[in-house]
Amino acid sequence: MLAPLAGYTDKAFREIAAEMGADAAVTEMVSAEGLARDGEKTKALLERYPGEKNLFIQIFAPSDDPVRRCMDNLLACTPAAIDINCGCPVPKVVKTGAGSALMKNPEMISRIIKAVKERTNIPVSVKFRLGWDSDSINYLEFADAAAEAGAGMLTLHARTRAQGYSGTADRAAFRILSEHFRGSGILIYGSGDVFTPEDAISMINDCGLDGVMFARGAIGNPFIFRETKELIEKGSYTLPSVEERVLTAEKHLSLMVRYFGEAAACREMRKHLMAYIKGIPGSSKVKAELCTASSEEEMREILSHLI
Ligand SMILES: Cc1cc2nc3c(=O)[nH]c(=O)nc-3n(C[C@H](O)[C@H](O)[C@H](O)COP(=O)(O)O)c2cc1C
Repeated sequence: MLAPLAGYTDKAFREIAAEMGADAAVTEMVSAEGLARDGEKTKALLERYPGEKNLFIQIFAPSDDPVRRCMDNLLACTPAAIDINCGCPVPKVVKTGAGSALMKNPEMISRIIKAVKERTNIPVSVKFRLGWDSDSINYLEFADAAAEAGAGMLTLHARTRAQGYSGTADRAAFRILSEHFRGSGILIYGSGDVFTPEDAISMINDCGLDGVMFARGAIGNPFIFRETKELIEKGSYTLPSVEERVLTAEKHLSLMVRYFGEAAACREMRKHLMAYIKGIPGSSKVKAELCTASSEEEMREILSHLI
């Protein structure tokens, strides 16, 4: 799966990932309060590309109240699953009691899930961390609360809130979690340091997971979905050529222009393009030029020098 990545997993990136083999994807996190209030920006985050399937919509909320109020708008988007964010470490989110602050309050995740389950049979999934910090590791207790309330899928990002995105994900925790829920029918997914197809497969096989979410490892590298499937099916995989990397970056750019307009696309694509071209000979020279390019044509022209 393509993990939720705020600022990245918009419909253009999800479309590219699906073409490369991602079986499902999660939206960027959206505020349940914003959705309840019909916020235009929030609703724009939930648009799909034509024919998009298997879309998980991720919401964040400090309590069940905004979740209850956002349900009409949420269900109108017909998600394949509704994911609850219990991992966001950003102070602006945490200080409201949402995101990883929910790790301190397992009872609240139970209330939030029940608020969703009261209205729909669409599966609920929860993405959470090991705990708030190393002194308060409580992922099993938290997962139990979510499972008892009716979550059908649990995705552990095996870091604490205090770790943010630093340090390494704790693989032993994946194993403990999957063993804890063995035979329950609840899907257990892993997130954290999935940077190569080998990482994904060893996490699944060694830790007994049902699947993994690719996050930073998919930025500028949607090929990782195809490579992982090839590795599973054939035992080996082919890396994309420089030409394919550049052409995929260009395709991503053109989808962004189509969906969001040229100005927004050029602004938002910079970070993607930096990732697509990383390590290609000559890329350091074109990076600065890409950062100031302000039209699709200009960006394409700069990229063409890499092939
Ligand atoms: C830029 C960025 C944005 C993210 N946005 C979200 C988000 O909106 N919701 C969420 O649950 N996790 C979010 N995450 C966490 C990722 O989904 C993932 O759990 C984390 O990056 C660990 O995986 P990795 O080490 O393979 O990158 C974000 C991570 C990054 C780097």
